[in-house]
Parts: sequence; C-alpha cells; structure tokens
Amino acid sequence: MSNDSESLIVTDNGNPRHIAIIMDGNGRWAKKRFMPRIIGHKAGVKTVKNLIDFCTAEKIEVLSLFAFSSENWRRPPEEVSLLMKLFITTLSSEIKKLNRKNVKLVCIGERSAFSNELQREIINGEKLTQNNDGLILVIAANYGGHWDIAQAANQVSTKIRTGILPNTLITEDLISQHISTASLPDPDLFIRTGGEERISNFLLWQLAYTEFYFTPILWPDFNSTALRQAIDSFKGRQRRFGRTGDQVIAKTNLL
Ligand code: FPP
Repeated sequence: MSNDSESLIVTDNGNPRHIAIIMDGNGRWAKKRFMPRIIGHKAGVKTVKNLIDFCTAEKIEVLSLFAFSSENWRRPPEEVSLLMKLFITTLSSEIKKLNRKNVKLVCIGERSAFSNELQREIINGEKLTQNNDGLILVIAANYGGHWDIAQAANQVSTKIRTGILPNTLITEDLISQHISTASLPDPDLFIRTGGEERISNFLLWQLAYTEFYFTPILWPDFNSTALRQAIDSFKGRQRRFGRTGDQVIAKTNLL
C-alpha cells in the first residue's frame, strides 16, 4: 500500500500503525546460557506472546514478525527441523488463545515448501481468525523481499497475459496491489534486535519510508519496556517522505 503510506501513519495515541520486527539473537541468548539454540527459539516464542499482548493493549494495528527467511534453509538441518516443529506446536497450541484475543493471523511467504502438517496449521489458523478485527499478526515464513517483488510481478504479468489487466505499463501501484501485504499499511517502524544492523531481505518493497530502530538486546530479552523505548524513539522522529523539514512543520500546523 506504498502510495497511501503517508496518510494516517500513526494511531490516535501517536503509536505506529504497523511494526515490523526481525527477531534476532535467540541462538546467542541460548549459547550464553550453555544451552542448545532451540531453547533460545523457545524463549523467543515467549517474547512473541508477551509482545502480542502489549501491541493489542497499545492498539497497534499490525505486527509483522520475520520467523523464517528464504535463506534460513541454509542452517544446519537439525536446527531447521526443530524450528519447523516449534512452528507447528506453537501454532496448534496458541491459535485458540489468539482467536480469543481477537488477533487475526496472516502468514506471508512461499508456504508450499513446508510440510503438509505445517501448511494445514497455517491454513486452519488463518481461517479461524479471518474475521477478527483486533491486532493483525503477520508471520513471515519462508519469506524473502526479493521473492515477494517477483511473485507480485508474476501475478501482474499473468493477469496481463490472460486479459484480466490491460496491456499497459506496470506501475508502482500495480506492484503494491499484488505484494503479499497489499491490504495492509506499510510498516511505520522496523525493529531488529540482536545488534546486527541490516534488513536481511525482509519486506524490501514495503520498508521504503519506514523508520529503522536497531537494538543490541537479544530477542528473548526484548520485553514490553524495550518495545516502548523503540516506539518512543519513533515518536521523536520527523517523517518527511521526501519533503523538507519546514514543509513538514507547515503541514503539521495545518492539521
Ligand atoms: C533469529 O535468531 C531467529 C530465527 C531465525 C527464528 C525466530 C523464530 C522465533 C522467535 C519463533 C517464533 C515462532 C512463531 C510461531 C512466530 P538467530 O537464531 O539467528 O540468533 P543468533 O543470531 O543469536 O544465532
């Protein structure tokens, strides 16, 4: 929804509408405790649960989490397999609670690479929560920003080839309408925990005007106080969307 991203960029209380997070540092968190990496991922799930409650209370509209990138298949097979099991058990044990909390689950990414069991859990979770109007929880799994742009381009090209769309120039709007988060506002705030400062192929199209926040805190330790700090940093920023600072001040004074 890129071209609309300037309107209504904050909620009534000044919070970002959409927060996107790379949850990094689970492995190091476990290593520091002489524990296997999967224990760090399990601790990471607890953080996810706490922050869903925080975002719901703060009336954040969308929380997008990078759970598994297209590149994460390169990890040791044992870790990949344990992560897949963790996704299945977490989805099956949490989905009813999420539904009671009015959370709507949306999964983005190339899900055909997952086991039938995981695909089933995703479909069931999305179906159960599809009419909820609380927090939209976007889980990016086997997701990559390059993949997303390519799949949008492929959808557009198929529609042109089959006559659903006229054979004219492909515009930015057309790509935005076919990107995996097309019905959602673009992220206002991007957070990466764990100390690395890169976006690792997450939501590349959607992050064009997003405010970035990097923290050394490892994901299992990233609690609501830490998220509040990130939101406070966001609130202190001036978002210019290509304009000058003076123009933005003049525009704000008009509101
Ligand atoms: C990055 O930390 C984390 C991941 C690749 C997996 C994140 C997954 C979860 C927190 C589980 C969430 C589950 C659901 C269902 C949303 P890392 O392993 O790269 O950490 P390191 O950099 O310290 O090694």
